[in-house]
Amino acid sequence: MSNSMAAVKGLATAALIKAGVINPAAEVRVLLAWLTGLEPNQLWRLDSLTATQTAELDAAIERRCGGEPLQHITGLAYFRHLTVQVGPGVFVPRPETEVLVDWALDRLRDVGPGGQIVELCAGSGAIAASLALEADPGRIWAVERSDEAWSWLQRNLRGTIVEPVHADMAGALPDLNGDIDLVVANPPYIDPADVSLLSAEVLADPAEALFSPEHGLAASRTVVQVAWRLLKAGGWLGTEHGDQQGPAVVEIMVRQGFQDVRTYQDLTGRDRFTVGRR
Ligand SMILES: C[S@@+](CC[C@H](N)C(=O)[O-])C[C@H]1O[C@@H](n2cnc3c(N)ncnc32)[C@H](O)[C@@H]1O
Repeated sequence: MSNSMAAVKGLATAALIKAGVINPAAEVRVLLAWLTGLEPNQLWRLDSLTATQTAELDAAIERRCGGEPLQHITGLAYFRHLTVQVGPGVFVPRPETEVLVDWALDRLRDVGPGGQIVELCAGSGAIAASLALEADPGRIWAVERSDEAWSWLQRNLRGTIVEPVHADMAGALPDLNGDIDLVVANPPYIDPADVSLLSAEVLADPAEALFSPEHGLAASRTVVQVAWRLLKAGGWLGTEHGDQQGPAVVEIMVRQGFQDVRTYQDLTGRDRFTVGRR
């Protein structure tokens, strides 16, 4: 790497540090890979930037320092093996959710080939598209209500076997009642009273993806009811929730009649999703 490239990286990283970005060097790498078209592990070959690339990097760093999510700047989010397209109007998939997919893949191995899956609250479609890629399901449906998220969902599911469904989950897919092996969901679960605690970056996600009434639990209640309706006997639900909501979601699922209910933690050790069997 030339001195000038080291200087470019140093200046960009320093600006992000000043703005309070938590992983500044990693973000500079993502931005450089995005604007040069190189894989991150090939960036060592980069000797210099063109004038256009320099201007693009400066603009991207300025937007990032203003609190815009990195994924809105590049238009891309990385989730497990996938790169999904994101932007304003759709929730940026988070690494915490990847462990829910690990659990779902284990359940699908028990079901065997041809299992039927429904994802509720699909957003970008990252969960459903991952299950389609990493398992051998028969059919998968991905349900999303928001008009803005819907266009991103369609885009990300093009070329996959996942069937997008533009509907409120409460009444979605009535023809599948009792037929489904696995329901997964990452519903909105933040208490609207906590809005002042959220960073600008989180607030860049659509409100419909973040907030749910009843202390953040209303959408989780709906997920549990809809899963109960869709699942066949022995079928599983796995649903993400806030790190303080494990006991409440366990109670909702047990009351609904689910068995083998338990909460799993994410990679930081925080309660992240709860599962149960119909
Ligand atoms: C937290 S985001 C999760 C998106 C995606 N599954 C992920 O993990 O990245 C929640 C999503 O649920 C959608 N949503 C909220 N209420 C819904 C409802 N009643 N029916 C269908 N989708 C809903 C929101 O629009 C948003 O896209």
